[in-house]
Amino acid sequence: MDLGLEENTALVTASSSGLGLASAKALAREGANVVICARSEEGLEEAKAEIEELGGGDVLAVPTDITDPDEIEALIELTVDEFGGLDHLVTSAGGPPSGPFLDITERDWYAAYDLLVMSVVWLTKQAHPYLVDSDAGTVVNITSTSVREAIDGLVLSNAVRRGVIGLMQTQAREFAPDIRVNAVLPGSHETPRIRELVEQSLERGEYDNYEEGLADWADGIPMERVGDPKELGDVVAFLSSDRASFVNGVALPIDGGKLRS
Ligand SMILES: NC(=O)c1ccc[n+]([C@@H]2O[C@H](COP(=O)([O-])OP(=O)(O)OC[C@H]3O[C@@H](n4cnc5c(N)ncnc54)[C@H](OP(=O)(O)O)[C@@H]3O)[C@@H](O)[C@H]2O)c1
Repeated sequence: MDLGLEENTALVTASSSGLGLASAKALAREGANVVICARSEEGLEEAKAEIEELGGGDVLAVPTDITDPDEIEALIELTVDEFGGLDHLVTSAGGPPSGPFLDITERDWYAAYDLLVMSVVWLTKQAHPYLVDSDAGTVVNITSTSVREAIDGLVLSNAVRRGVIGLMQTQAREFAPDIRVNAVLPGSHETPRIRELVEQSLERGEYDNYEEGLADWADGIPMERVGDPKELGDVVAFLSSDRASFVNGVALPIDGGKLRS
């Protein structure tokens, strides 16, 4: 299926690794120009090279901390200066700290709110004039299945991310018909973050090998495996495309069928 994204411009945040990078790659494979961002310049340059190897559209990498509204403003300006506009915004972020409720400090709550919710507020506000100008304007928010079903030990993700869904549902109504706004809810995908967590469990002697550790992450998934980040990225590209032109205000789980709700 041709997604018709050729020469469109997509900005994907938190995209030097994992699900953000997989989304940027999926959009680039479809011929879109992509802008990627993350805090570490080194990780960004590696990611840029990986995307360029795919031979899709042009790639711009902009070191950005998405918890800083001034840096977000500069990121959008650089995007528009480079590509003349913006058609697709994909918001991802780093993960908030894990831990039970009683271990989480007030500071952790505000930091998680800035990282997960305010970043999306600032990004969508800054991007809005350009997305309206595009005849293909879309936003896709990458969140988590935790917005539907609380995950043990992840109180910040369980509580704070739900704000993104309320924001998405509101913007889907207020921005239509010019801009479609949707969210994807990843279950477990084998990103560097998950690989690192499995390696740490291995070092603690909890498993005999990597495959056994990864299998634990697949527990309860009807597809009997964790996802490949590419499987998330492909859905993000589809939702960003005109092939999904009547899909608006949806929070779509991409979790191999684990969520029952
Ligand atoms: N992987 C999964 O199975 C899964 C499942 C559900 C939800 N999620 C959520 O999906 C998001 C992405 O997860 P992932 O597994 O892809 O993580 P990852 O592989 O660790 O990648 C995180 C990316 O975010 C960037 N980042 C972190 N903080 C940032 C900031 N303040 N400003 C700009 N960029 C920032 C990182 O680069 P720098 O560190 O250089 O900034 C990196 O590029 C997270 O919120 C995670 O909790 C993941």
